[in-house]
Amino acid sequence: MGGAGCARQRQLRRALAGRMEARPPPAKRLKTAAWRSQGGNYATGRNMEQQRRELPIYRARAKLIGQLRHLDTAIIIGETGSGKTTQIPQYLYEACIGGHGVIAITQPRRVAAISLAARVSEEKKTELGTLIGYTVRFEDLTSHKSKIKFLTDGMLLREAMVDSLLCRYSVVILDEAHERTVQTDVLFGIVKSAQRKRKELNKTPLKVIIMSATMDVDLFSQYFNRAPVLYLEGRQHSIQIFYTKEPQNDYLHASLVSIFQIHQEAPPSHSILVFLTGQEEIEAMSRTCKQISKNLPQGSCQMSVLPLYASLPPLQQLRVFQQGPKDRRKVILSTNIAETSVTIPGIKYVVDTGMVKAKRYTPESGLEVLAVQQVSKAQAWQRAGRAGRQHSGICYRLYTEDDFEKFLNMTVPEIQRCNLASVVLQLLALRIPNILTFDFISKPSPDAVRAAVDQLEQLGAVERKNNQIILTPLGIKMAAFPLEPRFSKTLLVSPEFHCTEEILTIVSLLSVDSVLYNPRAQQDEVLSARRKFISSEGDHMTLLNVYYAFKNTAGQREWCRENYVNSRNMTMVMEVRRQLRDICVKFGVHLESSRADTSNVRRCLAHSLFLNAVELQLDGTYLTLDSRQPVVIHPSSVLFHSRPPYMLYNELLHTSKCYMRDLCVVDPEWLYEAAPEYFRRKLKGAKT
Ligand code: CDP
Ligand code: MG
Repeated sequence: MGGAGCARQRQLRRALAGRMEARPPPAKRLKTAAWRSQGGNYATGRNMEQQRRELPIYRARAKLIGQLRHLDTAIIIGETGSGKTTQIPQYLYEACIGGHGVIAITQPRRVAAISLAARVSEEKKTELGTLIGYTVRFEDLTSHKSKIKFLTDGMLLREAMVDSLLCRYSVVILDEAHERTVQTDVLFGIVKSAQRKRKELNKTPLKVIIMSATMDVDLFSQYFNRAPVLYLEGRQHSIQIFYTKEPQNDYLHASLVSIFQIHQEAPPSHSILVFLTGQEEIEAMSRTCKQISKNLPQGSCQMSVLPLYASLPPLQQLRVFQQGPKDRRKVILSTNIAETSVTIPGIKYVVDTGMVKAKRYTPESGLEVLAVQQVSKAQAWQRAGRAGRQHSGICYRLYTEDDFEKFLNMTVPEIQRCNLASVVLQLLALRIPNILTFDFISKPSPDAVRAAVDQLEQLGAVERKNNQIILTPLGIKMAAFPLEPRFSKTLLVSPEFHCTEEILTIVSLLSVDSVLYNPRAQQDEVLSARRKFISSEGDHMTLLNVYYAFKNTAGQREWCRENYVNSRNMTMVMEVRRQLRDICVKFGVHLESSRADTSNVRRCLAHSLFLNAVELQLDGTYLTLDSRQPVVIHPSSVLFHSRPPYMLYNELLHTSKCYMRDLCVVDPEWLYEAAPEYFRRKLKGAKT
């Protein structure tokens, strides 16, 4: 290890020493009845049936079944770990509630849907994909035999596009309602209307169950026609909460200190789950942890550091759920994807930084940015809850109790803080003509809806007829792709530019994210390995070059390692590409390659991403053409050191500045050609 590493270690040791003196850490224990232990404990290998009977929900089983049998709609609230998600679908199935129909349980995230389906099918001693299955984007493991189906809320929404009455289902359970993702919020309205329409048409009734551990029950009960709220009592395992005494100005350093403090004191079987904000941060922290743990004194236990974030390939995500060797400590570094629903075996400690990366949107500027911000109290409770799933646990909150009190109670629903173009397109595909009057549980701002309709109009997905907004034939096709509107548009216009093969690859690469691996410690090596792929035309073209090279070597692991390419992510890209290609074939999209002509590919991107165009100013800075916002090139871009006059970006990330990520050089003529009216307006605006 180099000098910097040693210095870091010394610094860390000092920090650790400081912490240990102040034990119990600058912290305070929280006492509420809700957190009291019920004394249960799972020994590994314990009979599943017995485990099911020990869950707090089991005591309420008979009463719950009785209530649910008669109710059309119910709101269920119960502590995390009480058994809601795994048990209620089984109870309904075992009691034959819903007859022959399928029971759907939605989850905001794919990793939760998959791991829960696996758990329940294990409990039922069936093979996953038979009686119990799951459906997530780009993956469907169900069969005609499946009676209990876990799906992401986005997938149920897609199914509603084909069958708005959700006829296949007799029960829909909307789980983790507090998360309030855009898809869940839209689903509340869709499911409510499906239930009403089925009743009106005298069809088999649809039972709707809303569940969470931390939700605003009054809001939900009101919205669902004063549905009764069923409270599940008890929690199985106690959780102690500790706060820091002083505010921490560097939450990464504070996390590192906490991890190694626990590591030095707790037995190796006690795993640690740390909540961080994003992939880059997690990868960097993972390297630091590995480096430090290698240099701990002899006799210290070993450490397996496992990252967990949404763009990690599914197989790698599922690694965190596997039991590791008994003498190695598992440290999981995760984004908020592990916040709700999931049970990760062995977690005894949760370290909560109190931070999350989330979307923020301003309709006036049309900018949707990802920014690191504080979590809500509901999120903090969910995070703590991950420590008490199998045993009693401890949660270290890296903020003071006073700060916690200032957090928002509930997370602001995503629908009120994101670009609504995708949702509006989906609602129109669901034949909901007036988005402003749709029965939302929390209404999005009219400005945001108008901005979304404007964007879709620019993309040619909608048109106005007799004061109504309707989908164009292009819009109907766009809605069929599980992609953001701008990307489905890119695919659908690509035949005009004879480059569908290239666009399929680019869109797939962007759907999976981060096929490039950038270890900071080896920056020079990465740079020299990557030089051969770099295109002066930007990141999209560079990625395309990497993909070709990957394919030419048939995905050899050795090649991936030498070139700092994430082979698993690349394999996922191929899978996504195959599925998108199938949809293109279904629509009769002509699949052609533009071969060496990359300008066609960039022209095609200009025709669909023109709303994300930026222009170089005389002073060397960039402004977005849409709303004249100052933006800068992210250091990860291959264009970081260049200054092309016009570019397109994929995403904005707000930290100290507003950074553009994934850039493509374009000609201004292409932009005008793509949307002449729009750019004439924008240019006029810029001159005044
Ligand atoms: O939904 P809720 O938070 O109420 O709990 P659940 O997901 O139904 O899980 C109940 C309990 O089952 C957890 O606390 C774990 O003890 C156990 N479980 C598990 O061991 N492994 C899983 N994959 C899922 C649940
Ligand atoms: Mg749950």
